[in-house]
Amino acid sequence: MDLDFVQLGDTGLQTSEIQFGTWRFGKETEEGNLEIDEPRAHELLDAYADHGGRFIDTADVYGGGTCEEWIGDWLADRDREAYTIASKIYWQIREGDPNSRGTNRKNVRHRIDALLDRLDTDYVDVLYIHRWDDETSAREMMKTLNGLVEDGKVHYLGTSTLVPNGWKVAKANQIAREEGWEPFTVAQPRYNLVDREIEGGYLDMADDYGIGVCPWSPLGQGFLTGKYSREEGLTGESRAAESSRFREAYLTDENFDVLDELRAVADWRRISARPRSTSPPSRSSDSGRRRAARTATSDDSAGGTASPVPWCIYLPVSWRRPWTPTRTVAAGPSASASSPPNTTPRSVRTR
Ligand SMILES: NC(=O)c1ccc[n+]([C@@H]2O[C@H](COP(=O)([O-])OP(=O)(O)OC[C@H]3O[C@@H](n4cnc5c(N)ncnc54)[C@H](OP(=O)(O)O)[C@@H]3O)[C@@H](O)[C@H]2O)c1
Repeated sequence: MDLDFVQLGDTGLQTSEIQFGTWRFGKETEEGNLEIDEPRAHELLDAYADHGGRFIDTADVYGGGTCEEWIGDWLADRDREAYTIASKIYWQIREGDPNSRGTNRKNVRHRIDALLDRLDTDYVDVLYIHRWDDETSAREMMKTLNGLVEDGKVHYLGTSTLVPNGWKVAKANQIAREEGWEPFTVAQPRYNLVDREIEGGYLDMADDYGIGVCPWSPLGQGFLTGKYSREEGLTGESRAAESSRFREAYLTDENFDVLDELRAVADWRRISARPRSTSPPSRSSDSGRRRAARTATSDDSAGGTASPVPWCIYLPVSWRRPWTPTRTVAAGPSASASSPPNTTPRSVRTR
């Protein structure tokens, strides 16, 4: 699979149709295991780059900052200009210091310098506000962020706020329009088959402002891969096994109802909804490398072909050009002969 370039929203930037997310680099689970260590992180980045991937997504709090350092080390051996790097700021970093969170001028200016230092670069292509800060006015935030753009430290502004905050993004962009400032041109909301809250108002807002949408957790943090079942409960090697937060949010009856429908559609299309491991992860013996290479496949019995993909994330760059599994998963030859299941999934909106 070689990745294509697509336009990022209404910006002039061309970048990869699938992004590489690094949330789990340097992350400790509730059990105290390190999910991805540096050598493994570099292997995964290599795999992504070898397939033409050029868009890396991080945040200054991932791995407490080590994630950005590892990306910086990896980039040192490459042509930085060839990559789109996105990072995020917001979450509190010093206990007892309210100025160390949010989008106030002091915090933003400190955070951008610190993250550029870790990434060992002069600029990030996209800087997201990780969440909305109700304690800082939209005007202060937009003016401060625009200062970073003028200084050349940031190329494009992104917002990773949650519904129902779409109107706040619209308000900030309206201020930017009136002042002739750079508006938010990229958004990173959660979006997948069981988290569809951005359909409707938020996407309409993004459309109206020409904002490119890069959804996070497109597989519902792994729930939609089919590795969990209502009957069997947890699988040994999974995010659910070590995250109570994930279990409470995703392993619900309502979500399993959606998964049942997805399986019906996948069966009809002869696509396996259950990925198989080529080499079992070894969490206990080597926690940093526990997530060994996995393979997402079509159902061989249906005549499909196996297509290895990195296990890690993919973020479709824009909902205007929705990600489709046909690039990585082949439908069986007789798929079109059978009838579709009696289910009507709402399609992703396109402009
Ligand atoms: N802006 C924000 O607030 C925000 C929030 C969350 C994420 N993000 C960004 O979005 C990225 C993606 O988030 P995500 O990790 O939740 O994405 P995701 O694609 O929804 O879930 C990834 C998980 O799916 C499972 N998976 C993927 N391929 C698989 C396969 N072939 N076989 C079995 N399991 C497979 C793995 O689960 P296991 O780990 O269980 O093996 C993997 O960790 C992050 O890295 C980050 O860059 C941003």
